[in-house]
Amino acid sequence: MVKIRSSEITPEHVYFSRRKFMKGIGALALGSVVMSACSNQEAVTAKETVIAGSTTGSTSLFEEPAPEANPPADTPNSYEAITTYNNYYEFSVMKQQVADMAKDFKTSPWTVQVGGLVNNPKTHDIDDLVKRFPQEERIYRLRCVEGWSMVIPWQGFPLAQLLKEVEPTAKAKYVRFESILAPDQMPGQNDAYFKWPYAEGLRLDEAMNDLALMVTGLYGKPLPPQNGAPLRLAVPWKYGFKSAKAIVKIDLVEEQPTSLWMAAAPDEYGFYANVNPEKAHPRWSQSSERRIGEGGRRKTLLFNGYEAEVAHLYTGMDLNANY
Ligand code: MTE
Repeated sequence: MVKIRSSEITPEHVYFSRRKFMKGIGALALGSVVMSACSNQEAVTAKETVIAGSTTGSTSLFEEPAPEANPPADTPNSYEAITTYNNYYEFSVMKQQVADMAKDFKTSPWTVQVGGLVNNPKTHDIDDLVKRFPQEERIYRLRCVEGWSMVIPWQGFPLAQLLKEVEPTAKAKYVRFESILAPDQMPGQNDAYFKWPYAEGLRLDEAMNDLALMVTGLYGKPLPPQNGAPLRLAVPWKYGFKSAKAIVKIDLVEEQPTSLWMAAAPDEYGFYANVNPEKAHPRWSQSSERRIGEGGRRKTLLFNGYEAEVAHLYTGMDLNANY
């Protein structure tokens, strides 16, 4: 029997779904904003462990059950699962509360500034942005640093298109993403433990990789607030926290940006955050994961199974030191 590695599946998904989605653009433009209900406890665990910095509970986390030898093929999670189990600390650390708390979040009007070390800075209105770049469907695995994963059919356009348009100067080495600051709408932003707004970063060559997607929709519908409407990132070979939600600002910069998680717990969350089963989190193993909707555990794959597409970005780099 020929065994197909899951890392080989995605390009075909991408190919077929690009074609499929061309027909779906009208639906996206006309569709109404989708809202849904709510989310779990792993987020609480993550926050508690970050704040306490203690090792409480870590022993049992290392004693995880063995992953299944032959896990089922990757199939997309249900719309219900994707929109009711969310990490979005601006709203709540309780995954199942996020959708309800985010349901009235104002996603229009919305502008996105792309600037910094560029020749041609732009400010986009979100509606223009969706029309300007052809929207594609990409079915990606999402692996959260907490040890769970999903498969999600996103719609969006390659981040590279947005970046090429602004013409980064030779000095630009990194891209910094900033999420919205709206404490009046986002109760979590009144928590002074985190340095708001949420920020993330990528090296410029990572950001230019074709897998890095600006996401505007999900399952052929506009992105719901709890998943980061109206615009979020999907960087599928990195832990989910790199995929910032509700982005309002994208800056080309010279120095490596400090993300919200790096500032909160630098020993636990690094800049690269590539999915790596060999590199344990200081308080839990990353060698396996719980796929939402499945009983057993799966082996975690290097670069979340996207090794063929992204490994060249890290040639010669010590992945253990650059976590
Ligand atoms: N972006 C913002 N602005 N705030 C957040 O709390 N959580 C991150 C990421 N992006 C987060 C964020 C984490 S930890 C994960 S796993 C993913 O969003 C979850 O995305 P999902 O809820 O669409 O599955």
